[in-house]
Amino acid sequence: MNRLRTLSVEAALLFLSVAQLSQALRCVCHLCTNHTCETEPAGACWNSVTLVNGKEERVKSCLTPAQYSGQMFCQGSRNLSKRHCCFTDFCNNVTLHLYSDRPSAEPGWAGLELALVVVVPCCLLCVAGLLGVLALQSQRCSYRRANKQDPEEPLEDLVMSPDKCLKELIYDMSTSGSGSGLPLLVQRTIARTIVLQECVGKGRFGEVWRGKWRGEDVAVKIFSSREERSWFREAEIYQTIMLRHENILGFIAADNKDNGSWTQLWLVSEYHEHGSLFDYLNRYTVSVEAMVLLASSLASGLAHLHMEIIGTQGKPAIAHRDIKSKNVLVKKSGAAAIADLGLAVKHDSSADTVHIPANHRVGTKRYMSPELLDDSINMDSFESFKRADIYSLGLVFWELARRCSAQGLNEDFQLPYYDLVPTDPSVEDMKRVVCEQKLRPSIPNQWQSCEALRVMGKLMRECCYGNAAARLTALRVKKTISQVTVLKDVKD
Ligand SMILES: Nc1ncnc2c1ncn2[C@@H]1O[C@H](COP(=O)(O)OP(=O)(O)OP(=O)(O)O)[C@@H](O)[C@H]1O
Ligand SMILES: [Mg+2]
Repeated sequence: MNRLRTLSVEAALLFLSVAQLSQALRCVCHLCTNHTCETEPAGACWNSVTLVNGKEERVKSCLTPAQYSGQMFCQGSRNLSKRHCCFTDFCNNVTLHLYSDRPSAEPGWAGLELALVVVVPCCLLCVAGLLGVLALQSQRCSYRRANKQDPEEPLEDLVMSPDKCLKELIYDMSTSGSGSGLPLLVQRTIARTIVLQECVGKGRFGEVWRGKWRGEDVAVKIFSSREERSWFREAEIYQTIMLRHENILGFIAADNKDNGSWTQLWLVSEYHEHGSLFDYLNRYTVSVEAMVLLASSLASGLAHLHMEIIGTQGKPAIAHRDIKSKNVLVKKSGAAAIADLGLAVKHDSSADTVHIPANHRVGTKRYMSPELLDDSINMDSFESFKRADIYSLGLVFWELARRCSAQGLNEDFQLPYYDLVPTDPSVEDMKRVVCEQKLRPSIPNQWQSCEALRVMGKLMRECCYGNAAARLTALRVKKTISQVTVLKDVKD
């Protein structure tokens, strides 16, 4: 019974649609009077949108049965034109849009997908090809370089040549090359053929060893891997173009040896058997001449460090930031050599900026200038760092002058402010004495009876002014001490 009812409903619907198709229709028509048209029986309402000069243009009208039966007026939509036929009164009274419905987008997506399928693998193939070519080239380069070393590259030969001593090698390299030291390959070759002999000292950042390279003594500073930044910074500063100077420790090589579980960081330099000025003054007293030589060579080294040399083979101004008697070495000749450049800063004079190393390390509190202690220093000005170095230099002069035995008299060795602060003073301890009480190391009365000591006392005072701008420059200090030498020579 139910089945019969369903069938009759379906038959009624079919009849209705056939009847509708065979009936005349009324449609919206843009070009007709009253915007309406009437189709013939079995006609259709027509709705279309077309892209013309970038604009959508719409046409709505009636289709004759002949037009409709050809179906070309009702064909599916495209991106540039969309047509739609319908069969109820005013069914074309809707606004069609291009790109609006999913079916219309499908051909576009299909195109895009096709493009992706074709283009992406092509691109990947190209990139892979390019990388392959590059890898092949670099392999060829390194192979050529490795093979070139022996016949064409004289550097290895130079190192291996048994009659070359370190001094000659360094001299050759610093005069003929970039002026910044030995090529890295040579540095590594030297470092790896050093035989360590004995540990000669221990600092905050590692140990210093005496080593042998072809029978010559060299100093090897071994940094712990935690201090990689200090090692890197010190090696970088030592290799600044034109840094080499008789009163700056002669750098030879830097090497980082990775043995799988830890990295050994080496810094190889000239070895000075007297050790540091601190060691030396602890052990010996010095004559007036020896004091003058040490003081003038120390000032000379610092003046070179501070000086900017302009030119293609120029040198930037450098401030040391850790001047103290432990960081000055005593050479066999009795002259000083400034060491330990791990904290140094370079001045970029073109941009007038200070190149501060990415290194948290700060100088030694005892030797810190008042403006460093109370944090009033202008870190943006390179002059500030030079002035802080001069303050520390003044304190080293005081340590040195105390050990000068003029007329058989001298003082014991002491560190600056030994009588005012504890052994390992804090910044607060130093600040209280240096900034608040404005105290400076005292100048013994007997210094007045010796010209050289009198000058040393005066220099110390003028290097240690609280007002950083009033302090002497390294060049001024150097000249003043040179005059002491001249005076002495004239007297003799
Ligand atoms: N090139 C060298 N020749 C001979 N001895 C050296 C040389 N360099 C350093 N020394 C010795 O090794 C010691 C340790 O030096 P290092 O620079 O590691 O520490 P420091 O200067 O004593 O202290 P700090 O870590 O505070 O700078 C020095 O005091 C000195 O006696
Ligand atoms: Mg040191």
